[in-house]
Amino acid sequence: MNFKKIKDAANVHYMPVFSRDEISIERGEGNCVYDSFGNKYVDFVAGIATNILGYGHKEYTEAVCEQVKKLMHISNHYYSSVQSRYINKLCEASGFPRVFLCNSGAEANECAIKLARRYFKNTHGKNMTILTSEGAFHGRTLATLTATGNAAQHEVYSPLPDGFASFKYNDLEDFQSKLTDDVGAVFMETIQGECGVRPFDNDFLVGAYALCKSKGVLFIVDEVQTGMGRTGKLFSFEHFGIKPDVITLAKAIAGGIPMGACLASEEVGTAFKLGDHGSTFGGNALACAAANKVLEILLDGELLERSAAVGEYLGNKLAHFRKYNFIKDVRGKGLMRGIQLCDKVAASEFERQLRERGFLVNVAGNNTIRLVPPLTITTEEIDGLVAALDDICASTCVMC
Ligand SMILES: Cc1ncc(COP(=O)(O)O)c(C=O)c1O
Repeated sequence: MNFKKIKDAANVHYMPVFSRDEISIERGEGNCVYDSFGNKYVDFVAGIATNILGYGHKEYTEAVCEQVKKLMHISNHYYSSVQSRYINKLCEASGFPRVFLCNSGAEANECAIKLARRYFKNTHGKNMTILTSEGAFHGRTLATLTATGNAAQHEVYSPLPDGFASFKYNDLEDFQSKLTDDVGAVFMETIQGECGVRPFDNDFLVGAYALCKSKGVLFIVDEVQTGMGRTGKLFSFEHFGIKPDVITLAKAIAGGIPMGACLASEEVGTAFKLGDHGSTFGGNALACAAANKVLEILLDGELLERSAAVGEYLGNKLAHFRKYNFIKDVRGKGLMRGIQLCDKVAASEFERQLRERGFLVNVAGNNTIRLVPPLTITTEEIDGLVAALDDICASTCVMC
């Protein structure tokens, strides 16, 4: 199929929800992908923080192929060793004793919201408010959209479920004032990925957590984008010395095979009653085999440690870009970084120019270039991107 036909089919038949870049990606190898013309790109998008092992990772590919041959899917009405092996490993690695497996970030978050509501009913006999942050992104189902700070979308898709309220980003005073007695849970990311890789300050996070603990309010962290080693630790909450009651995972959890997870403490994770929640595909054999291998490679294969060091390297390299007056901010942790440009320069134009030079990046909120490569990215590949970006910056003349 030539590029025009590929593009026409998607534009004619796919519901018009995505704005797509002018390339069709056909295959991947290592940390690179290749388009329909055979052009190679070093991938700093990784399916948006998903393909943490890059492409064609030997052990991962073998584990997935083996499982395809053996058993792809079985109903959750039955036990299966591949699922049990995985949940043992995930619960042990995370320190959360309870888990529900699903297929995406939105589903993991729906599960967390339902779980919190069931917990409120069990403990308080009523529904309680879930407090979320301005600028948050938690997904596109009705409940997760409600938890997402996007007023325009709220308007279109109303009526939305009630029982949500929001606090101002990074504003502890505002947070405290919103933490009224009807609030039962706080639900937040530690770094707002879709909002332009916007991290919360340590003081805010630690302070918000302490306030929640002092009032018996559940602390739920959305680790869909930040989890699985992305920030240099297995989960981003570990940077803050806190222990949430519930976390959610997806994206990288199975290295590119659709999967999500909601993990909880024993007290919260046993709130659901039989039949309260479920999923046909959630935690199926193929996804569990893939996720098991991802976790094994991350923890036993030293990828986590290595990616933390490479993430630091990337952060140090990017810090130099502050010298350009049109770079407004450089932020992030580990292999999750954002470069915010001033409004006179379009991040999408930088994205296009980097693509022309053989690097894929994408634009997140607030005119920010987002870098979320595979955790297997090398320092040489980072150097290549940095040189290309420097070249583009040097030929950009704007006063901001
Ligand atoms: C923090 C966060 N939560 C939830 C989601 C939704 O995940 P999914 O697209 O798998 O439903 C995303 C997706 O970008 C995300 O970044």
